[in-house]
Amino acid sequence: MTDDTWSAVDRYISDRLIPDDAALQAALEASAAAGLPDIQVSACQGKLLQLLVRMHGARRVLELGTLGGYSTLWLAGGLPADGRLITVEFDEKHAAVARTNIARAGFAKNVEVRVGPALAILPQIAAEEAGPFDLIFIDADKENYPEYFTWALRLARRGTVIIADNIVRNGAVIDPASSDPRVLAVRRLYEQLAAEPRVSATAIQTVGTKGYDGFAIALVIAD
Ligand code: SAH
Ligand code: DHB
Ligand code: MG
Repeated sequence: MTDDTWSAVDRYISDRLIPDDAALQAALEASAAAGLPDIQVSACQGKLLQLLVRMHGARRVLELGTLGGYSTLWLAGGLPADGRLITVEFDEKHAAVARTNIARAGFAKNVEVRVGPALAILPQIAAEEAGPFDLIFIDADKENYPEYFTWALRLARRGTVIIADNIVRNGAVIDPASSDPRVLAVRRLYEQLAAEPRVSATAIQTVGTKGYDGFAIALVIAD
């Protein structure tokens, strides 16, 4: 079994279950044209995020790590008409591409892109009492995942769903020789998830067009 098979099966699935969407396609094209890295969630993963928003009936969503707004569009597509999404992006250029993609998709009213390091923006969001959020997607710099999880809990309520991307990274997470700060930080996130009585969590390994990786999913079960 190879990456080629995983990608081909991802295409088989998306050809059948994920209808072409002009705004999502345009977002991918505009992101590539602007030279953004090709590291957004896959279509199948994006649809999963959207289904989780809908299953949960989420009305307020927080995302850390916007890139060109591809995952943002998937998440926003699961919100009701008056739903709100705040997405945080460090890079001005990424944020500008995302704003155009979000407006083209018709979500300018629902989605706010905040520019700056997430650890500087999160206290502002807390001070504004923009939360609690119903669903929080963590996908910014991996080194800060433990801090992002701590902030996510602060901005959550009982019932909030917290999802983190890239928590397997080709199995690097269990490589005992790794000194990669991203790997060490993701391991700290697992330790937090294990030790935190306010959440019940799992992680799911995924293969597909993005290779071998995974999502952690935590439900806040207590105040
Ligand atoms: N969620 C996107 C992909 C995000 S890639 C999607 O699936 O479509 C990670 C993003 O996090 C990049 O755009 C990067 O610029 C941003 N980022 C990196 N460090 C950050 C920080 N400290 N605060 C906020 N965003 C950051
Ligand atoms: C990469 C993938 C991601 O999903 C991400 O959020 C950051 C980086 C990567 O493949 O490098
Ligand atoms: Mg990611």
